[in-house]
Formats: sequence, C-alpha cells, structure tokens
Amino acid sequence: MGVFDLTRECVRQIKPYSPGRSAPDAVKLASNENPYGPSPRAVEAMRDALEDVRLYPDMQCTRLTEALAAHWELPPENVLVGRGSDEIIHMLGLAFLSPGDEVIMPGLPFALYPFTALIMDCRQVVVPLVDFRQNLAAMAAAVTERTKIMFVCSPHNPTGSIARRDEVAQLMEALPEHVILVMDEAYYEYVDDPEYPDMREYIRQGRNVICLRTFSKIYALAGLRLGYGLAPREIIDACRLVREPFNVGLLSEIAGLASLADPEQVARTKQRNQEAKEYLCREFDRLGLSYVPSHANFIFVDTGVPSPELYERLLKRGFTVRTGDIWGTPNHIRVTTGTPEQNRGFIRALEAALRE
Ligand SMILES: Cc1ncc(COP(=O)(O)O)c(C=O)c1O
Repeated sequence: MGVFDLTRECVRQIKPYSPGRSAPDAVKLASNENPYGPSPRAVEAMRDALEDVRLYPDMQCTRLTEALAAHWELPPENVLVGRGSDEIIHMLGLAFLSPGDEVIMPGLPFALYPFTALIMDCRQVVVPLVDFRQNLAAMAAAVTERTKIMFVCSPHNPTGSIARRDEVAQLMEALPEHVILVMDEAYYEYVDDPEYPDMREYIRQGRNVICLRTFSKIYALAGLRLGYGLAPREIIDACRLVREPFNVGLLSEIAGLASLADPEQVARTKQRNQEAKEYLCREFDRLGLSYVPSHANFIFVDTGVPSPELYERLLKRGFTVRTGDIWGTPNHIRVTTGTPEQNRGFIRALEAALRE
C-alpha cells in the first residue's frame, strides 16, 4: 500500500489543475490577465510598504473590507476578502458542503466548481449550455433536496456570455432556501450591458446569494491573489469560521486599497479591452471563424482545427491561448485580449497557423 492509498477516496479522483501555460518569449493570451498592468498607485503603495512585511497582516482585513463596503454601498458585514475569489469558493465549500450534497454548475464550468464539489465529496450536477449561454431555467429545474450550492458564472468563463437580469430574477424566484447561489462575477468590471443584473438587490434582501469579485482581472493583481465576496451577513459569518487566520497578505490589502482609489485605471482598461474585442471580432469575421460575443476580456472562437494542435502551431509563432479540449469543445480556443500590437501579432500567427 502506498501513501496515496491513504488519501480520501474523493481525493483520488482529482485531476491536477492545468493553468493557462506561459512559455519563454511567448505572449500569454491564456489566463485572462490584464496586459496593461496594475494601477501605478498600487505599485507605489506596495513599494512604500515593503519593509512592513515582517508583520502579520490585519487578520480582519479591516481597511479593505470597509473600503469595499463604501465602494459598493453595503455594510462591512456584507463583505468578505479572500486570497483570490478561488479562496472564497473554497471557504463556501468548507462551510456549507457535506458529503453527498449536490452542487449545480453550468456546462464548461470554471475548474474550481467541480474541484470544490470533488474535494468536499459532493455530487456534481452539470447543466449543459444552450448556444453557449447558461440555461438558468434548467439549472433551477435541476435543484433537489440535496442541492446545496449552485454556481452561475457571469460573464461565463470560457464563453463570455452573461446571465440576464430577467433570467436571474426568475432563478431567484425558483430557488428554495436550502440552496446558495454563487454568482461568480470575476469579469464584472468589463461588462457593459443594461441587461446585466445588480446582485446587491438580493444581498440587501438577505437572500441566499454571494457574488464573487476579484482583483486578478481588470485590476491586474493576479499575482497577489486578492478577491472578495458580497453576501448577506450569515453567509459571510459562516465563511469566516472556516477561513485561515491571516489569509490575505499585507501587500495584497494595500494594493487593493490603492487600486480601488484609481477608477481611471479601470475605465482605461475597459475602453482598451472594448477596442481589442472589436478588432479581434472583425478579424475573426474576415477569417470566417465563428465566436461567442463576449462581455469579458476573452473570446471563445471555433477554429475548426483540433485545439491542442493549433496550440503548438501558435506557440511556434509566439502566442499561448487556452485550448477548448479541457471543456470538451476540442475545436475551440479561448483567447485573452492583448495590447493592439499583441492582437495584430496574434491574428497574423493564427492565419499562418490555420494555413499550416
Ligand atoms: C470565472 C472565474 N472565477 C474565479 C476566478 C478566480 O479568480 P481569482 O484569481 O480571484 O482566484 C477566475 C480566474 O480565472 C475565473 O475565470
């Protein structure tokens, strides 16, 4: 018997997470990062605080919690800061999921949803997408007595589609009290659509919902690991019970605070992302490739070619993307928007790779 045999049965079913790959000298358009980098104010604030890292951080992350509360016009008890939104998902699993519970998630799920269900020994209920959009009515219909958590991802990674306000309203009406809706809004700040719902309405009503946000995407702080959840007090309190002490690093809190105080950085990135998407979509049209209209900073494209093969051809030409085979859509790739120069280079590489 090896040590691996001593692990919990559910642990043996876990496949290691495969991150978006980077390669030396290649432009990485594989992890939905922001090519323009963080707010200069965040960088400066961290530089000024470097010597303070001998100290443990404030365990309650008080200043950032209060700043986020003021930013979103919610009381601080409705805010939970974590080491990336990944950690908040993990806390939700630890706090709420018992073995045998059911976790509902959309088709082509973000990897942390099945991962959390697996490590908590729960059943995954994957509800297929329809035309690359989440089918919230079918997700509501999939609820049973054993359902504990439902993940909705909006914008949905990897397709970039959103759940509309009316769809979310119907879902909220249908959800029984024993189900917690986790509305993953990692790409929230990129969305520009009047039909995108404001989940604070439900949080203020005390409904069983938590919305997840992150500093990894538009704020360009992925390397620091900083995210947060907005939810009614009871959900936040339950997560706090299972949270590790000092989970958020001192520099992360400082960078988050400075980033929040720099709305121009967000507006600038959003504008550049919009232009990048318009350029890329025009080029995909010209190449006759179909894609899903995206509300985020990435585009899900059907290249008509097996994506692992296309990946290698693009890599040779200096670009990495995410291959669709991991979601069971083998001919798709997910490409993150880059700078204008990176996008032009990517299209040249893609054209050549498709001809190869
Ligand atoms: C949909 C979605 N949720 C959550 C995350 C995790 O973000 P964080 O870096 O805050 O853990 C990501 C990151 O790729 C994501 O795409």
